[in-house]
Amino acid sequence: MTDGPTGPDQQTGPGGLQAALPRELYVDPAAFAVERERVLFGEWLCVGRRDDLGLHEPRRLAVVDVVGESVLLTCDEHGALHAAYNVCRHRGAQLVASSPGAPTVCAAAGSLRCPYHSWTYGLDGSLLKAPHADLVDADLPAFSLTAIAVDDWAGFVFVHLGTPATPLAAAMARPARTLANYRMGELVTGLRFTYEVAANYKVVTENYNECYHCGPVHPELTRLVPAFGGGGGGIDWDSGVPHREGAWTFTTSGTTDRAPLPGLDEDERVRHKGELVHPNLMLSASADHVAAFVLAPQSVDRTRIECLLLFHPDAVADPGFDPSDAGDLWDLVNRQDWAICESVQRGMSSRSYTHGWFAPMEDDSADIRRWLLPRLAPEGDSGE
Ligand code: FES
Ligand SMILES: [Fe+2]
Repeated sequence: MTDGPTGPDQQTGPGGLQAALPRELYVDPAAFAVERERVLFGEWLCVGRRDDLGLHEPRRLAVVDVVGESVLLTCDEHGALHAAYNVCRHRGAQLVASSPGAPTVCAAAGSLRCPYHSWTYGLDGSLLKAPHADLVDADLPAFSLTAIAVDDWAGFVFVHLGTPATPLAAAMARPARTLANYRMGELVTGLRFTYEVAANYKVVTENYNECYHCGPVHPELTRLVPAFGGGGGGIDWDSGVPHREGAWTFTTSGTTDRAPLPGLDEDERVRHKGELVHPNLMLSASADHVAAFVLAPQSVDRTRIECLLLFHPDAVADPGFDPSDAGDLWDLVNRQDWAICESVQRGMSSRSYTHGWFAPMEDDSADIRRWLLPRLAPEGDSGE
């Protein structure tokens, strides 16, 4: 790092401005390689919904790309989740062919047979047999696939490619409290959008965390939620954000035929809540659906984003189920966000840019700096 802040609160400007992260962290592939290793692989990363990955049933396999690492996910015969690197212990072939950034593969599976020399693994990653090798049963455990920590929370699957400092449940304590009534574990994906966004993942999460941009970028959303037009300052996210008179959810009309989710309190039936779970899950909760954004960083300047609209299973099972009222609004707002994020990425790439500034109403965005820098500091250096 050269210019820009090197620790929280080291640079402040007039008018309450605080320095944003330095340019390198958004545009430099070498800086991204360090961040990937120290930060992204040091956190629980969301990889999608358990049922979308087919892992809600026994004897299933999914192969996902996790920031360039191919990861095998399995649900074994007992219904337990496992994760491992997609790398055979014999001579390194992939058990399931997959290139970096490849789309997720989902399939039924009884075992995992390497296509090269047929070493075969159980769904828990243990080596079952190695043809023509003199391995005895006692030797086999040493040749298990290299395991990765995996867990699920509220229907989402998470992996951790390092050694988790905290269990997933502890990492999710805040959304578990603030979004408890939405009972996301029971919801199902009713509509999905996939976007390839030419921006660093932090540009996307910083953008999610402030509504300073909502007036200029989202005129339709601001008509639905007038408080957003004021820049988002003073919004009480814990109680939720009210809609305009007569509106109660994120749809083009502000209403819908779908029932509010069961279990919501009086505020939640008419207000909107949101949570950012660093580093790659954004949750946006309306009365009748929850929008979940799963970010898959592909490189320093590219992020694949899955936007999943989650509904109550009864709504999806209704023969008249039509999620387009929510989908049309979300797709519009999403495209507005991704277009401005790509503009930011292009601007940050200019040699004139060193770092930006957070205005006081962007304080939540500044959280990414407070979150990232200590994790980015070399081992033993707190980053202070
Ligand atoms: S590399 Fe997998 S069996 Fe040889
Ligand atoms: Fe936005």
